[in-house]
Amino acid sequence: MLNDLVTGKKAELTLDGKTYSLPIMEGSEGERAIDIRTLRSETGYVTIDSGYMNTGSCASNITFLDGEKGILNYRGYAIEDLAEKCSFVEVAFLLVHGSLPTGLELKKFSDLLGGFALIHEDLIHFFDHFPPYSPPMSILSSMVNTLCNFYPEMTDNPGEDIDMMSARLISKVRTIAAFSYKKSMGQPLVYPRHDYPYCANFLNMMFDSPVNPYVVNDEVVAALNKLLILHADHEQNCSTSTVRLVGSARVNLYASISAGISALWGPLHGGANQAVIEMLEEIYENGGDYKQYIDKAKDRNDPFRLVGFGHRVYKSHDPRALIIKKACESVLRSLGISADPLLDIAREIEEVVLQDPYFVERNLYPNVDFYSGIIYRAIGIPSNMFTVMFAMGRLPGWIAHWKEMWDDPNWRIGRPRQIYTGPQRRPFVSLSERD
Ligand code: CMC
Repeated sequence: MLNDLVTGKKAELTLDGKTYSLPIMEGSEGERAIDIRTLRSETGYVTIDSGYMNTGSCASNITFLDGEKGILNYRGYAIEDLAEKCSFVEVAFLLVHGSLPTGLELKKFSDLLGGFALIHEDLIHFFDHFPPYSPPMSILSSMVNTLCNFYPEMTDNPGEDIDMMSARLISKVRTIAAFSYKKSMGQPLVYPRHDYPYCANFLNMMFDSPVNPYVVNDEVVAALNKLLILHADHEQNCSTSTVRLVGSARVNLYASISAGISALWGPLHGGANQAVIEMLEEIYENGGDYKQYIDKAKDRNDPFRLVGFGHRVYKSHDPRALIIKKACESVLRSLGISADPLLDIAREIEEVVLQDPYFVERNLYPNVDFYSGIIYRAIGIPSNMFTVMFAMGRLPGWIAHWKEMWDDPNWRIGRPRQIYTGPQRRPFVSLSERD
């Protein structure tokens, strides 16, 4: 795919008195790149770009985002349209296949999701052997890796029907997530129901109990669909790049996704949604003085960051945050929650921060994680499950990227270079002579 993007234009680089011509590539939305693939072999130089601030690792036709303009499209469709008009299952199909499903395709895919919803009974015993209070992200990552032992025929055969592969994983991750919650509560497991669609089924597995039957609330289902859609892909973010990098060593889908879940766990990445709600709760419990948290975040000598603000790519606004902020209000209203002090604090923080030169100069805006926890909390999801919810949403994106990487004719194992700064080669000193 990469070679098709080379234009006739060239960039010139002069090194040690010699000029080299580097091809220019252009993507379908006009993004431009300098092709340095042969730079080291031609010049002996590598490029350094810690944090990959400026490095394109692949060509991808899954998601486009323009951080300056606040645009996010999956397979060419605006996130605003998808969040408003689609179910999560439709969007999962879109990401994995490249096109929105027809009615028939959607039914087939939904039936597969229903059919794969159970997990092997032996796998359920694994839940009993995690110590109490194990972080759910650790359980999820371990269980997803373990799936390859139960379904070994799926492990390294991406040629297999992609519907089966993605439906199996998307369906079972939902069951694993709900079972891990039930186990943590010491409650009996609630098995998936074939007659419930994806999100309603998840909520039922989470909240139904023999003494308190769960009644599906359409507004809550709609909000969950929206949240999962908004998290479903985000091009080459940390966890997706992890899935691609691990997969580039020709590792099976389960192990690659398990690594992605671990990356997502980090508080600078998906773990921020849990950190935000914990920060808001702390502010509330300490009397609501959020200004001292803003001051701490601005203090260069304090490592504290105002979680839920800032993004590597978005520099004007995060379109997902705008949609979630709006959804917050309608979910609370539909649940009859007339006021949420945490939402009030969040709104006040946003208002103050958007006027504060520190944040304005650094283009720090609320990101996807700032308001999502308020919805999760309102629908009863405990904060230590928030990042698991993010993982459930991101799963179709990870699968689509793993598949794209696997099928790419330009695929190479991911293997960055470095600039070595350690000692130069020196004579070995035997143990008796080391003093
Ligand atoms: N609070 C206070 N200062 C901040 C924040 C923040 N949340 N974010 C960035 N900065 C400052 C940072 O200190 C630096 O200042 P200076 O130029 O004076 O050194 C400047 O802004 C640029 O920050 P950076 O760390 O170089 O930016 P980055 O692109 O490497 O990091 C980020 C992006 C998201 C990791 C960062 O903004 C952050 O840590 N935010 C808080 C955690 C968070 O909300 N993460 C969720 C991100 S969105 C969902 C996801 O990716 O999963």
